[in-house]
Amino acid sequence: KTEILSLNELRSLETAFEYLKSGELVAIPTETVYGLAADASQPDAVSKIFAAKGRPADHPLIVHIDGVDKLSKWAAAIPKCVEALAGAFWPGPLTLILPKAEHVSPIVTGGQNTVGLRVPNQADVLALLARLDTGLAAPSANPYKRISPTTAEQVMFGLNNKIAAILDGGPCEVGLESTIVDVTGQTPTILRAGPITKSQIEAVLGYPIHMPQTHNMAVPGNVKAHYQPSKPVKLMQSKHLFEQLTAHSTLYQSDIAVLYYSDFLTNELDNTSAMQMKLSSDKARYAQNLYYALHQLDGAEIKHIWIELPPFDEQWQDVHDRLSRSAAS
Ligand code: TXA
Ligand code: MG
Repeated sequence: KTEILSLNELRSLETAFEYLKSGELVAIPTETVYGLAADASQPDAVSKIFAAKGRPADHPLIVHIDGVDKLSKWAAAIPKCVEALAGAFWPGPLTLILPKAEHVSPIVTGGQNTVGLRVPNQADVLALLARLDTGLAAPSANPYKRISPTTAEQVMFGLNNKIAAILDGGPCEVGLESTIVDVTGQTPTILRAGPITKSQIEAVLGYPIHMPQTHNMAVPGNVKAHYQPSKPVKLMQSKHLFEQLTAHSTLYQSDIAVLYYSDFLTNELDNTSAMQMKLSSDKARYAQNLYYALHQLDGAEIKHIWIELPPFDEQWQDVHDRLSRSAAS
């Protein structure tokens, strides 16, 4: 039975510490999504993560550390751009891919000779890391290909009985996974869009970086069909969504759930029998609630999920990335 450890209780961090030290799995809150953590220096513990999630062994994990000063423990070399990036964005939703230090187990890196490192912006987890005096390998705390959890309840829903405990820190602040930047090459390259945009990174570095248009499928763990509800997801332009709703009979509509943000759709949706959830048109708030909403729709008695496509500006890129993966088959 998976234990829920509330961060409101003093003993919780102690218990989490003991589990992690003894090689057990504990889900931890971060500002992005909940992570499924194991002591990164214990390969046997780390391999339990893959079993619990049903994740292929060649999908690398991110190692969470409590400060930029720990980089040299996990990375074999630290490229020049790292100081500026870490200074600007850590603790925060940025993961850096670096050459791995020799001792880092291939189980953590999915066999790569690089390692993903991140300092999460969650005070209790930083305190836990400092006390453990190690890194925590942690992918998102969801079963493979499912939606990432942003609450302890959602972790429980996906992984109950498969992990020792969940450290409950309440809902995640950011709500979408970190931006991943590979800094091992000549020019930094964004491997996964996230809350920190390409322009923000370029503003800090003072030069342009790469962001491949098509996802680099050569990177293990970068799969097109991901973040998926158990029902088919269709992405639609605002106007098209409106037309489709009015075109279908109310009987069919009751099989549909609509996730949207445009005010103009509210009135029209009130005249349908479709289930509906409205998100904010403010990007940060939209992102904060997106996975929560998708989890709700996933559990509802409907057959189709229709989602209004968000605006196409740069700041929405991570949302587009996750939505298109949730609709991919
Ligand atoms: O915000 C986040 O990044 C969350 C929280 C828990 O920190 N973690 C997360 O982990 O999203 P995960 O495992 O769901 O996604 C990590 C992805 C991998 O699937 C892979 O694509 C990439 O990071 N990655 C990790 N290490 C890598 C490496 N050495 N080389 C290339 N890609 C790597
Ligand atoms: Mg994930």
